[in-house]
Amino acid sequence: MIELAPSILSADFARLGEQVRAAGEGGAAVIHVDVMDGHFVPNLTLGPPVVKSLRKVTNLPLDCHLMIENPDEFIPAFADAGADWISVHQEAVPHLNRTLHLIKSHDCLAGVVINPGTPVETLSEVLDVVDYVLVMSVNPGFGAQKFIPSTLHKMRRLAEIRSQRNLTYRIEVDGGVAPETVADVVRAGAEILVAGNAVFGKGDPRQNAQELLRAATEAALQKV
Ligand code: DX5
Ligand code: ZN
Repeated sequence: MIELAPSILSADFARLGEQVRAAGEGGAAVIHVDVMDGHFVPNLTLGPPVVKSLRKVTNLPLDCHLMIENPDEFIPAFADAGADWISVHQEAVPHLNRTLHLIKSHDCLAGVVINPGTPVETLSEVLDVVDYVLVMSVNPGFGAQKFIPSTLHKMRRLAEIRSQRNLTYRIEVDGGVAPETVADVVRAGAEILVAGNAVFGKGDPRQNAQELLRAATEAALQKV
């Protein structure tokens, strides 16, 4: 099953509630929240207070993508603010097993993220712990970047490993997902599609979400 996770990074922050509602009406299943600390990635975004406000305007799960150093320090605050899913970067976390269990201890789904330069093999020891794996298809830090096609093989590999090892994690993709790239990521095995610019960049988020989801669902049907 394919789900769309609009990223609020490209939304108009002065009208966040309205924009999230529109994305929900367009079929969004999850709201993707990009948290950046100016250290792990060269940009700053938002923290738990924004998650707390979002919690009041939507019932959709809030998927908090932590692009931060020392995520253990902030996981409890994000969970208390209303995060439902929390993901951390393999590259930012020295004690990955411990951090993933910390997320789960707060009753959130736990995800692990890999940058374009990080191989899937680095996750072999945590694939039985995580609820989802997020494959970055751009280098994290900014919205509206160009999709990196060489990341597609990692989605395929994760789907292969999941069936070989009889695991249950879901596969999420983030970066440059747009009408031109959506069929490729779905065919490669991505099931949760993050899209910022393609939903909120221009035009109507409701219609943009609908169109992207329609293209994704068509590609999924062709795959079978
Ligand atoms: C990038 C963020 C993404 C970003 C995706 O660092 O993690 O979630 O918002 O944006 P688009 O869809 O515009 O590439
Ligand atoms: Zn993200």
